[in-house]
Amino acid sequence: MSKRIIVGISGASGAAYAQRFIELLVAAEVEVHLVVSPLGQRLLHDELGMEGVDLEVLAGRADHGITQYHYRDVGASIASGSFGHDGMVIVPCSNHTMAAIANGLSDNVMHRAASVALKERYRLVICHRETPLGLIEIRNMEQITAAGGIVAPANPGFYMLPRTVEDIVDMVVGRLLDLIGVEHELNTRWTESEANPRAGRE
Ligand SMILES: Cc1cc2nc3c(=O)[nH]c(=O)nc-3n(C[C@H](O)[C@H](O)[C@H](O)COP(=O)(O)O)c2cc1C
Repeated sequence: MSKRIIVGISGASGAAYAQRFIELLVAAEVEVHLVVSPLGQRLLHDELGMEGVDLEVLAGRADHGITQYHYRDVGASIASGSFGHDGMVIVPCSNHTMAAIANGLSDNVMHRAASVALKERYRLVICHRETPLGLIEIRNMEQITAAGGIVAPANPGFYMLPRTVEDIVDMVVGRLLDLIGVEHELNTRWTESEANPRAGRE
């Protein structure tokens, strides 16, 4: 049976992470349930040039099967504890959305689904993007972690010697896929034998 993952896109920088993540979920035949905040939509526009939420562009193909929910529809199926799934990932996750989740606010379906994921003990992964961190963000991260969520900041490693922006995006997205148990073939895992393939050149 295919996996079922809820994806939230909020208004933090890093729309490319969301696009690549969704593309790879669809490629892995994962059932994607998507909610985009109004500021998330703005970031899709500003950083990817997208008009509206273009599911075909996000998925990289026409037959994507993605279900999208209206941000304000707190009556949507994903807002219910009875909606079984294999995890929720918010990528990128803004300070605002992280604060709402850390404090149990749920006046939209993204925050509500995240809150439900915590109480039902589903995996919740927060791919936060902002720097530097203030005390409030650090405390919110602690609160989410204590509640069982995983804070996985958009924080790419460089040990695989990326050459392109796409390589850097893949470093973050590969970790997110690992965290929800979706297989991928991205070259993002450190193994000593393959480490630093260009070391010693020049
Ligand atoms: C171009 C742009 C970039 C932004 N980047 C970030 C960011 O990286 N991290 C962040 O926490 N907020 C960022 N913000 C601010 C959030 O979008 C803002 O706090 C908003 O209320 C978030 O709402 P949401 O969490 O419902 O999407 C950015 C806003 C804009 C317009």
